[in-house]
Amino acid sequence: MRAITVPQPGGPDALVWAEVPDPEPGPGEVIVDVRASGVNRADLLQRQGHYPPPPGAPAYPGLECSGVISAIGPEVTGWSVGAEVCALLAGGGYAERVAVPAGQLLPVPAGVDLVDAAALPEVACTVWSNVVGVGRLAPGDTLLVHGGGSGIGTFAIQFGVALGATVLTTARATKHPRLRELGAAQAIDYREQDFVEEVRRVTDGRGADVILDIMGAAYLSRNIAALATGGRLVVIGMQGGTKAELNLGALLTKRASVAATTLRSRPLAEKAEIVRGVRDEVWPLVEAGTVRPVVDRRLPFTEAAQAHRLVESNDHLGKVLLTNG
Ligand SMILES: NC(=O)c1ccc[n+]([C@@H]2O[C@H](COP(=O)([O-])OP(=O)(O)OC[C@H]3O[C@@H](n4cnc5c(N)ncnc54)[C@H](OP(=O)(O)O)[C@@H]3O)[C@@H](O)[C@H]2O)c1
Repeated sequence: MRAITVPQPGGPDALVWAEVPDPEPGPGEVIVDVRASGVNRADLLQRQGHYPPPPGAPAYPGLECSGVISAIGPEVTGWSVGAEVCALLAGGGYAERVAVPAGQLLPVPAGVDLVDAAALPEVACTVWSNVVGVGRLAPGDTLLVHGGGSGIGTFAIQFGVALGATVLTTARATKHPRLRELGAAQAIDYREQDFVEEVRRVTDGRGADVILDIMGAAYLSRNIAALATGGRLVVIGMQGGTKAELNLGALLTKRASVAATTLRSRPLAEKAEIVRGVRDEVWPLVEAGTVRPVVDRRLPFTEAAQAHRLVESNDHLGKVLLTNG
């Protein structure tokens, strides 16, 4: 089969579509013939040599895919050859075939095209586990989603609204109309406006109950300033660095909490639990059309370098997908 390999870490042209050995299904795994794979921010880091795959994961990038099951390994029940699926991966989605632990498979939701289904597993699992699991978002809460135009952000806005929250988001101004269409009550231009002031203004001084953050260090103190009493800051990205000073006094006064999580390196059993939760609680919203995949564009695997350039530029809105054929 062919896959996107990275013979030498580097810029987008380090991605090389090359012949590689076929994967074999191990116990508890199936082989998926990949139709499409989502491009995630983490893939850019992996290409640069900064985010190696966890032990046992395929060497090629790709944290999610959609496709058709073509082989089933020992000890797998409940899935059959020919089923259309999408899957959360620890790597290897940028390929014609990938071995997937059965606990990380999801059926393609009714009403979603097989290619677009590749836009869902990573964002659905990340957003559900952090916004519901860690952030405990409740109806009537205010949710602040940083980077509303990202793959994660476009999903989190819709999901927050579906849970009955008021959703505020930060993004460059050109993305605001689309983010309002997705349900954001207020889009904040983080380049021109102070998001802390805007959140306070919109919430009559109360602040946000839950903040889903992708900026890390650069936003830590401002995020704490923007939290409501009892608020929960959930950091899932470090685009603004990893180290910052934390004012425990500000946190303590608000009886607030800070959490930070990652999905890729979790044990298989935890990933399977998250995927089960997504299937039970998120898939019905997708099938009802309340939450939809937001796809900026599809490009063939042979144009992976262009897809990475686009994501690096942040000119995309939603997900960029790589497709086979
Ligand atoms: N922890 C986990 O398990 C996990 C899982 C998946 C993703 N993530 C993280 O989640 C983040 C989003 O991932 P993705 O693949 O969806 O990203 P993406 O589509 O590449 O989007 C990145 C976004 O960052 C925004 N941005 C840049 N500077 C900003 C700032 N100062 N304030 C607010 N937004 C800013 C850009 O929007 P503008 O054009 O508006 O600037 C862009 O939409 C990444 O940091 C990724 O590492 C974490």
